[in-house]
Amino acid sequence: MVGDVSIVEVGPRDGLQNEAVAVPVEVRLELVQRLVAAGLLRIELGSFVSPRRVPQMAASAEVVRGAPRVQGTRYSVLVPNEQGMREAAALPVDEIAIFASASETFSQRNINCSIAESIERFRPVVEIASAQGIAVRGYVSCVLGCPYEGAVPLTAVVDVSRRLAELGCYEISLGDTIGIGTPRSARDMFRAVAGELAPQTLALHFHDTFGQALANILACIEEGAATVDSAIAGLGGCPYAPGASGNVATEDLVYMLEGLGVKTGVDLAAAAAAGAYISGHLGRATSSRAGQAMLASATDAKR
Ligand code: HMG
Ligand code: MG
Repeated sequence: MVGDVSIVEVGPRDGLQNEAVAVPVEVRLELVQRLVAAGLLRIELGSFVSPRRVPQMAASAEVVRGAPRVQGTRYSVLVPNEQGMREAAALPVDEIAIFASASETFSQRNINCSIAESIERFRPVVEIASAQGIAVRGYVSCVLGCPYEGAVPLTAVVDVSRRLAELGCYEISLGDTIGIGTPRSARDMFRAVAGELAPQTLALHFHDTFGQALANILACIEEGAATVDSAIAGLGGCPYAPGASGNVATEDLVYMLEGLGVKTGVDLAAAAAAGAYISGHLGRATSSRAGQAMLASATDAKR
């Protein structure tokens, strides 16, 4: 029996941070507008990281300022340190996300510090956010494997998740950064973390490199996971995870959940249209299978 599931749309951040060419602010805003219209209310809008490291996320402040404020929207941004937090705190964000890793090498490559140092860096970030009433989410990357180290022990995943929760993260998003997991490894990982932290405080953030993301999500929601990250049109990747492909596509996730009788509040046709919009801008077809099917049936209906 699967309970309610809420979707966190990460397309404007994870989705666009890995594109070869930065997407202009107007297009990022039009995408957000379309996502909100489709009923996706929890959206990660961008990140406040080094623009030299991730130039695609420059101008995230303009995206936050321009995003439509309608009832129920909850906007988040990724923040790596105090500098990013001070920038985010001056803007109307509802939530920030700090991001750690279960793999030392990925931590070094991604954020230029060890796991232990990252936790110390996040301390003042959480303090500033809490003082301003901004909720804090925590990501753990490499929960099912690392692009540099290979296998990652479950003890490391549980340990980093616990440390982020202790810092004050109300939700921990478990990232299969390189999309390498399969349902059994995903379930085992979820059970291990849920043995320590309440399952309803955990989110799934699965990239779809090997086409397993939906199966892995199903395995974990059967274990009590109630929040899933996804990216419209299956966009996404991390510049520091070579070979990794996009996130699970929002359209595919919605199709599966609705098929299971789980209400998502998302209009699949509108989501598919948002996916087609951004894919058109990027000059390629959507990676979402449900998105492709929706577009094909809309085209057939017009004939
Ligand atoms: P650092 O330790 O200071 O060192 O930054 P650095 O050499 O990496 O960067 C230094 C430069 O960044 C300096 O500028 C700083 O001023 C600047 P420069 O002298 O080179 O001109 N800087 C900043 N600029 C703007 N905003 C800031 C900021 N902080 C420093 N907040 C840092 C550490 C983490 C900032 C840096 O390494 C960085 O930006 N890394 C990029 C991290 C990133 O965005 N990765 C992708 C997102 S994570 C992800 O995708 C995984 C996830 O989706 C979950 C999953 O799938 O597993 C979340
Ligand atoms: Mg990611």
